[in-house]
Amino acid sequence: METGKRMMSGGLLAGILGGTLLAAGLTLSPAAHADEKVDAARAAITLSATLTPEEYEKRAEDVIGPEKFDNNCASCHALEAEAWQQTTHYATFQTRHRTDEAEKILKAMGQRSMKRAGECMHCHYTSVLQRGKATPTWGVSCESCHSPAKNWVNIHNKVGGVASGETLKWGKGKDEAPDARAKRIGAAEAAGMIHAGMIYDIARNCFSCHTVPNEEIVNKGGHKAGSDFDLVAWSQGQVRHNFVTSPGAPDNATNEPVSTERRRLYYVVGALVDYETTLRNLSNVKEKGGAFHKAMVERANKVRDRLDAIAGKVDLGDLKAAIEAAPKPMTEDTAVSADLADKLGAASKKFSQMHDGSKLAGVDPLIPTEVKGDVYNKK
Ligand code: HEC
Ligand code: HEC
Ligand code: HEC
Ligand code: HEC
Repeated sequence: METGKRMMSGGLLAGILGGTLLAAGLTLSPAAHADEKVDAARAAITLSATLTPEEYEKRAEDVIGPEKFDNNCASCHALEAEAWQQTTHYATFQTRHRTDEAEKILKAMGQRSMKRAGECMHCHYTSVLQRGKATPTWGVSCESCHSPAKNWVNIHNKVGGVASGETLKWGKGKDEAPDARAKRIGAAEAAGMIHAGMIYDIARNCFSCHTVPNEEIVNKGGHKAGSDFDLVAWSQGQVRHNFVTSPGAPDNATNEPVSTERRRLYYVVGALVDYETTLRNLSNVKEKGGAFHKAMVERANKVRDRLDAIAGKVDLGDLKAAIEAAPKPMTEDTAVSADLADKLGAASKKFSQMHDGSKLAGVDPLIPTEVKGDVYNKK
């Protein structure tokens, strides 16, 4: 098995700087992965699509925001924020509620405002608590993917143990010793951060929104039943914001693609989490034969074909049994238990921590080369 080290982005980066950068602290020791208890706590707060209104309010309390409020992400991560401002995730707050499609869904749901309806807020907006209420303030933002930051923001940025502040900008981590980095990022993870090394957890967030697990808004509201989503294609276009690890950071940072190794891991883990999430969605179906149920059955069969193709190219170890435990092909009469999803999830997470992608070259021909949207780079 491979080690749990994080491969940093950019083949170019690896080429130019090779071992120097890795030695300079861009690895994560397996010890940095939080224990199961922390996992459970985090799982409870991070998948915003499936929160109750009370949990969503609790989450809003921990949100700092990409911009506007004190200590916001953009105050240190200016380039990441600029990249985010070009995305559909950003635009959804500005424009989506004004469209005819939104009107149609709202009408069918008996709702009037997308920014007031809990059913929509969870996925389309990041909210902060204002006057005791979760108030939509941005589209899908930094903390939708990296998790609400109140408890980790002042831990993750202490490069060299220096207290956070305006002067401590990104890019500083290049001079940090490996142990110090592992300790810093490990502490942030324990406080709830989903950092770039946690591919499985990031993917869970993407798919929790992008499979649209809310049966009612699909069946009754006519909302799309999920996105045709591939983790590589969808994360490496408009969503990409790999500035910290770029060779010229911090002064001449560029937006680097993920490394070849990491792209493989994204591809495999993305398909695994897609399957896990879809199986879980199927286990929760209430209206048999409804639009949601039909879409999830189709999704499950499609992603299973992809996983079988992957299993034909690389050794998936224990994962193979966890995948094959799910029935294939499925129909609307197939019973799916949540246990299948839980077991696959546990095996997938382990897999994502054991691999850095160097042993997964077999999947290269399967990985999509087209990305979703334009990559942002400062002109
Ligand atoms: C579980 C997450 C989730 C919830 C809840 C949700 N959406 Fe969406 N919505 C999405 C995703 C993901 C997309 C993008 C789908 C795609 O890939 O095109 C989307 C797209 C849309 C679109 C664009 C559709 C199109 O045809 O391009 C509209 C309009 C929309 N949502 C309205 C709403 C409204 C209104 C609500 C509340 C009643 C809502 N959404 C609730 C996740 C969600
Ligand atoms: C749609 C989900 C999503 C959103 C929104 C998002 N991120 Fe990320 N972020 C990711 C993913 C995925 C990675 C890992 C990329 C990789 O490994 O190359 C990442 C990586 C990063 C990194 C490390 C980059 C590097 O060079 O290694 C930083 C810093 C970061 N994000 C900050 C932010 C900030 C600040 C915002 C908001 C302005 C933001 N992110 C919004 C998903 C997201
Ligand atoms: C006071 C400055 C500051 C603020 C505010 C800040 N960051 Fe950071 N962030 C940093 C520094 C410094 C690093 C380390 C950069 C490095 O390693 O070179 C970092 C690193 C990161 C990383 C990469 C960690 C990794 O290795 O995966 C992510 C992701 C990230 N920040 C997200 C955020 C998000 C989201 C917010 C807002 C909630 C935020 N940051 C707010 C300074 C800040
Ligand atoms: C909190 C929910 C949520 C999370 C988490 C999330 N997304 Fe999204 N995403 C959405 C919604 C909602 C839309 C559609 C917005 C609209 O059209 O109004 C969207 C749209 C997109 C689009 C634009 C698609 C298009 O057709 O233009 C991309 C690309 C994307 N997401 C990638 C990702 C990736 C990659 C991740 C994880 C790293 C992710 N998303 C995580 C909710 C989410």
